[in-house]
Amino acid sequence: MTKTYRLAAIPGDGIGKEVLPIGQRAVDAVASKFGFNVEWTEFDWSCERYHETGRMMPEDGIEQIKSFDSIYLGAVGYPGVPDHVSLWGLLIPLRRELDQYANVRPVRLLKGITSPLAGRGAEDIDFIVVRENVEGEYSEIGGRVYQGTEHEAAIQESILTRRGTDRIMDYAFDLAKTRPRKQVASATKSNGIIHTMPFWDERFAAASERHPGIETSQFHIDIMTAHFVLHPDWFDVVVASNLFGDILSDLGPAVAGSIGIAPSANINPEGKFPSMFEPVHGSAPDIAGKGIANPVAAVWTGAMMLEHLGEREAAAEIERAIEVSLESAETKTRDLGGTADTAGSAAAILAALQ
Ligand code: NAI
Ligand code: MG
Repeated sequence: MTKTYRLAAIPGDGIGKEVLPIGQRAVDAVASKFGFNVEWTEFDWSCERYHETGRMMPEDGIEQIKSFDSIYLGAVGYPGVPDHVSLWGLLIPLRRELDQYANVRPVRLLKGITSPLAGRGAEDIDFIVVRENVEGEYSEIGGRVYQGTEHEAAIQESILTRRGTDRIMDYAFDLAKTRPRKQVASATKSNGIIHTMPFWDERFAAASERHPGIETSQFHIDIMTAHFVLHPDWFDVVVASNLFGDILSDLGPAVAGSIGIAPSANINPEGKFPSMFEPVHGSAPDIAGKGIANPVAAVWTGAMMLEHLGEREAAAEIERAIEVSLESAETKTRDLGGTADTAGSAAAILAALQ
């Protein structure tokens, strides 16, 4: 019997609505080629919906989406709705309630892309940022007092649990075992942040004991950002807390060419809940509606989703098609130095999948 994947699509806002359908078409194209079925269900959860209903998603949204095999998301957030409202009204509840604790962001210099770093080629930039995705610095613990007075104060607590820290370390080490270099680098700041980050370092050391055969290193986050630029070839798997991982996973793709190509996955490694796949970029209000967004990040994200579902060959085929589309300036978008618009880039990718 032909396998059927039930997939939830949330195009979201801005360019999310422009690029996600292209990724869906790429997934459909390889599905017929590799003999599986894909059944899409569309959800209109977005800032637009917030304007109409006062909520980013329905109250029982998590219940509605929990039974899908995977979630494919464009981007959410748009001027007119404060970013913390859109983020905490949709993305963060999905990541947390579906226990997608590993945020995985590959950084690879694809063939056909010139790195902004002089003299770097495809062999120099190939690493994966593994970001803790459900705790850490992004916590609801804290508050504001004396608002509007000169005594006004804001407090925000970070929470690192042993369970949460150990499981993200294990994910990173297990991932490193599948890669040729077998290295994990930890992003820390245990010199300045004196409670949570020394704890992070201890748990990293403990993980290293649990996973012999993996070479480890650690860097304070400040110098690590410099090394991403000066020595991207030093890195294989990078494990980081929620905030540090967020920052590194925008810097990484910039080094590999453009935020417009960067894919990401929010993984529930146990498979108890669906994992969610989204480009690293946001809704890009500055270019939304102009038809010039780069669809590669969304399409590559679709390949990550297929790989997670076990369709490795189909995923590799999409990656190949992306690289074909990047070969000439006429079929890649302007953020990559090309001349194509979204439709032109999409057409080249889809043609390469035929
Ligand atoms: P952004 O990623 O939307 O845009 C940053 C810059 O990169 C802009 O100049 C944009 O034009 C460019 N860019 C992004 N994606 C591109 C693509 N595919 N092709 C060509 N250029 C591209 O980040 P920004 O401006 O910080 O956030 C805009 C909105 O998106 C905010 O509401 C923010 O909260 C939301 N956001 C949502 C995310 C998500 O849903 N996962 C992630 C990041 C931001
Ligand atoms: Mg980010």
